[in-house]
Amino acid sequence: MHPLQCVLQVPRSLGWGPLASVSWLSLRMCRVHSSLSSTMYPSPERQEDGAQKDFSSRLATGPTFQHFLKSASAPQEKLSTEVEDPPPYLTMDELLGRQRKVYLETYGCQMNVNDTEIAWSILQKSGYLRTSNLQEADVILLVTCSIREKAEQTIWNRLHQLKALKTRRPRSRVPLRIGILGCMAERLKEEILNREKMVDILAGPDAYRDLPRLLAVAESGQQAANVLLSLDETYADVMPVQTSASATSAFVSIMRGCDNMCSYCIVPFTRGRERSRPIASILEEVKKLSEQVILLPRPPKVLGLQGLKEVTLLGQNVNSFRDNSEVQFNNAVPTNLSRGFTTNYKTKQGGLRFAHLLDQVSRVDPEMRIRFTSPHPKDFPDEVLQLIHERENICKQIHLPAQSGSSRVLEAMRRGYSREAYVELVHHVRESIPGVSLSSDFIAGFCGETEEDHIQTVSLLREVQYNMGFLFAYSMRQKTRAYHRLKDDVPKEVKLRRLEELITVFREEATKANQTSVGCTQLVLVEGLSKRSATDLCGRNDGNLKVIFPDAEMEDVNNPGLRVRAQPGDYVLVKITSASSQTLRGHVLCRTTLRDSSAYC
Ligand code: 5AD
Ligand code: SF4
Repeated sequence: MHPLQCVLQVPRSLGWGPLASVSWLSLRMCRVHSSLSSTMYPSPERQEDGAQKDFSSRLATGPTFQHFLKSASAPQEKLSTEVEDPPPYLTMDELLGRQRKVYLETYGCQMNVNDTEIAWSILQKSGYLRTSNLQEADVILLVTCSIREKAEQTIWNRLHQLKALKTRRPRSRVPLRIGILGCMAERLKEEILNREKMVDILAGPDAYRDLPRLLAVAESGQQAANVLLSLDETYADVMPVQTSASATSAFVSIMRGCDNMCSYCIVPFTRGRERSRPIASILEEVKKLSEQVILLPRPPKVLGLQGLKEVTLLGQNVNSFRDNSEVQFNNAVPTNLSRGFTTNYKTKQGGLRFAHLLDQVSRVDPEMRIRFTSPHPKDFPDEVLQLIHERENICKQIHLPAQSGSSRVLEAMRRGYSREAYVELVHHVRESIPGVSLSSDFIAGFCGETEEDHIQTVSLLREVQYNMGFLFAYSMRQKTRAYHRLKDDVPKEVKLRRLEELITVFREEATKANQTSVGCTQLVLVEGLSKRSATDLCGRNDGNLKVIFPDAEMEDVNNPGLRVRAQPGDYVLVKITSASSQTLRGHVLCRTTLRDSSAYC
């Protein structure tokens, strides 16, 4: 995992953004809003030139507000991201990017990294170019996070820096346009436009298809926004452009939104209701990734024919996946939950569930590792656990976000389980999947959390002994149930002290858990050179822990006698010699394949 800094396009991060002194990341990771949702805001400060007058007159004869609501909320049946016909107040030329250069900056969770690529895929088809040089940009888009206040503060600070860039821009260049995308756009809506006049466009998480239109409107000096949430937008047909530096792995979005309404969480309000992508389109994307040609960094540098070696299925509640798109599966079969767990919503029925998807995805390529994140502990019925146990290429790694070790706090959080039910699930998971690696999220200092509750959380960390942990201080969010019904009564210093204590205990326990690997031989998927040393390579074991080992020649088990050096995308066997709370070290034994090898102790 990654140090908790501002997550700027960190490809492997499985977590929401940074918090205080925590040093790990986790993942994570509506009904159509009735309020003003898709509209344009004239900026009084901006002078109309001739072109703008022309635009304004076309705007006056353009569509009504209803038009926007209709087009933005209608079920998206389109199966193409080809550039659409322009709305009546724009010409085709205005809708196209005209080679304008877009700079995208991502904050927050892995879902946002994926959303960035979706947004880029849409803009690229509209004729925009991408730049990684801020100074070169004509359009700057920030893909934002609202999960905690600190995440939003980072964006406000960034906006102030960008304001200076916009003001200093020479008149000889096209005016710089700035956009806020994602959760913060959704949460704050017009407030951003009113507070920061230099923001030109706002696009909520379900409005990325509208980006070309929003930018075209912004070209004329108007502010433009679309923050409509959708019941069915999954961007199923938009293949994200995978720009990750990693030649080994990719993320595939399988569902969006959350129906759980945990009392502390803003996500259901910013990302809307749960909806799943049809299985057929997920399988198509995974197949393409498994066939993707990759360029190897060292000789023979041939275009690698092996394709990507790891796919992580992504979703806010990834294991609540339910594909209702095929009518024949929409029967009345009730949903199996983990034992002792309940939902905050009416039980759903029918559809193709996560176990079915996992089965299908893992069959695409037996050499491709499958991971998924972020799950909810309530959705681990036996069929999912059994499949993870049986299928060689599904990683034995499960994220089980507990949030607290106190049943009293869990109830206030509306998590739908008690400490006892959670601990029972942990035992059941460990019995079903021997050797499974476990991780969790915890919140320190939730409303009403007493010292005794905190001690319960410490004891849960000791009892479970997680391999990875993502720990946060509670941050009250408007709109949530906690905001309306509870009191944020744990002082900031107490929250931070408890957080530090949780981090210390987590580290001690993770070190112990990881040290059980010393002396074992593990299968590692090579990612590339270690960041700290040019003579070391770095990869991940099945549990997703980073493994560092010297870059040495080794035997290739499939070509006896051949000596090779590892390339990104190779599977190698590594003998583990030491372990810390976040990393394993060892020496490489041989190059192998996922099917031919089995890790052993
Ligand atoms: N304050 C602190 N942490 C939060 N999380 C979600 N909402 C909040 C909040 N308001 C944490 C939870 C979740 C993770 C992604 O972020 O632990 O699992
Ligand atoms: Fe937030 Fe709970 Fe949904 Fe996770 S499951 S996104 S914590 S509401």
